[in-house]
Amino acid sequence: MAQIGTDRKKAKEFLESGNVVGIPTETVYGLAGNALDTNAILRIFQVKNRPSFDPLIVHTDSIDKVSQFVTDIPNPARKLAEAFWPGPLTLLLPKQSLIPDLVTSGLSSVAVRIPNHPLTLDLLRSLNFPLAAPSANPFGYISPTTAQHVADQLGDQVPYILDGGPAGVGIESTIVGFENNVPTVFRLGGMALDQIEAVIGSVSVRTHSTSNPQAPGMLSSHYAPRKPLVLLSPGESPQPAGRIGALAFREPFGGIPASNQRILSPTGDLNEAAKNLFAYLRELDTLPIDLIYAEPLPNAGLGFAMNDRLRRASVPAPTTSPFQ
Ligand code: TXA
Ligand code: MG
Repeated sequence: MAQIGTDRKKAKEFLESGNVVGIPTETVYGLAGNALDTNAILRIFQVKNRPSFDPLIVHTDSIDKVSQFVTDIPNPARKLAEAFWPGPLTLLLPKQSLIPDLVTSGLSSVAVRIPNHPLTLDLLRSLNFPLAAPSANPFGYISPTTAQHVADQLGDQVPYILDGGPAGVGIESTIVGFENNVPTVFRLGGMALDQIEAVIGSVSVRTHSTSNPQAPGMLSSHYAPRKPLVLLSPGESPQPAGRIGALAFREPFGGIPASNQRILSPTGDLNEAAKNLFAYLRELDTLPIDLIYAEPLPNAGLGFAMNDRLRRASVPAPTTSPFQ
């Protein structure tokens, strides 16, 4: 069983000997391994049960180091990096041959980010290689936002989980690419679109794809709890029937026991809601209920990214009652 602790040196030793380690970031916890060691990369794919066509994000601690892994940092990318790193932003940049093809699933660009977490930044500074790290959840399931979430699901396959407390942002990084010099968002995430546009002007958004996805966060079924989740329309209320639970934004729904509901932010703060989203989905997934109703978030700030996750986690509203 994995050991959970705050010993950065221990994490370093495991990583240097080719092991994978759970690491905290401000977005979600990652399952980290030496990005330049193909055996460590293979181990990441194996532990997550992740298909090899889904590339990994490379984490490091400075723009100087990023320059060693890529052949070019286009102007808008540099502006975003300077404005938001360390932070919940991932940039797709043309890769150097130093980065194994396994990391990028054969793509010519590599996803890079500098995470904003003091413990992990210290760890990255102490290593002489970057860390490949997908979210530390079994492929397709909800991302972990605490060390315990990682232990619950991957604990028997990971020797050490570095505990940096609950993730402060709570939702994965926003992914931006620069194909043909057009800044394009491939995954909505912890860096809100309007913040990005304030720095580089308007960007196109391409996050929906059902086949041959460029970023598998684009796959339509992803981030899903085990229980069926129905995403309500704005203003719609759940049909009280059977054993149901709800994920609400500010106020609980009538007709459902309070113990079966989680309220993302009573004050209506979208950042607080993002921070709670995945932990609450996990809690609802363990309750004695058969169906989770989720209220859509307002389309502002991190609300877009949260609605994207809920949409991907949802099944279409049932046309016949699931309780028959
Ligand atoms: O916040 C985050 O980004 C977290 C933390 C741990 O940093 N990581 C994370 O990794 O969410 P993961 O593997 O769960 O999601 C990474 C996404 C995937 O959808 C993947 O397809 C996309 O990034 N991606 C990685 N490399 C890519 C590339 N070269 N081109 C296009 N998409 C890429
Ligand atoms: Mg993931």
